[in-house]
Amino acid sequence: MKNTKNRHEFLETKTTWLIIFTVIAISFGGMVEIIPLLFQQQTNEPVEGLRPYTALEMEGRDLYIRDGCHVCHSQMIRPFRAETERYGKYSLAGEQVWEHPFLWGSKRTGPDLARVGGRYSDEWHRVHLINPRNVVPESNMPAFPWLETNVLDGKDTAAKLRLFRDSFGVPYTDADIEGAEEAVKGKTEMDAIIAYLQSLGHALK
Ligand code: HEC
Repeated sequence: MKNTKNRHEFLETKTTWLIIFTVIAISFGGMVEIIPLLFQQQTNEPVEGLRPYTALEMEGRDLYIRDGCHVCHSQMIRPFRAETERYGKYSLAGEQVWEHPFLWGSKRTGPDLARVGGRYSDEWHRVHLINPRNVVPESNMPAFPWLETNVLDGKDTAAKLRLFRDSFGVPYTDADIEGAEEAVKGKTEMDAIIAYLQSLGHALK
């Protein structure tokens, strides 16, 4: 009995040992949580119905990153009632296996967009992105009017799809890659970003 107490005291009074044992305990706990996930089919395999982004959606995704949309919008619905009632089914790892990088985000100045696809018409998005106040008077989202006037040349699109296929194993076909420039050329940035937004959450709609 006395002996146990002494061992406990030893840990609590020797800061260095306390730190060392804390790190060991946390690392062990972390490994127990993380390592099984790396081998679970559920987290590695695409959910049924998942398809890669089209060339235009891929460009839209890059514009979403360029314009900092992910700074105010998350793309991760957590498994809580308040979230699933508002945004739809909670996000699954299998929906995200081809995302590079992930755009989960952690700050929500605006609503989560993981399942925004199909929630509004293309026209609503167009008006909203040119000036959010035109459809949501109290909105404090910035306006992105240049999306409407900037035109894409599609020069890098094929290279992007090829990178996703060769480096990340996203199943693009040769035809997808050859047709990428043509699919994007002449479209506006607005077309691309709306195509991207409308594709979000498509697999589990
Ligand atoms: C400074 C923060 C901020 C940035 C940056 C931002 N948004 Fe928003 N967004 C908001 C807020 C706040 C709302 C809620 C009010 C509204 O609907 O306008 C919103 C709403 C939205 C909605 C409607 C979602 C829904 O379910 O009603 C979409 C779609 C959207 N934003 C897309 C974008 C896109 C695309 C970009 C990048 C081009 C972007 N946002 C950048 C703050 C932001």
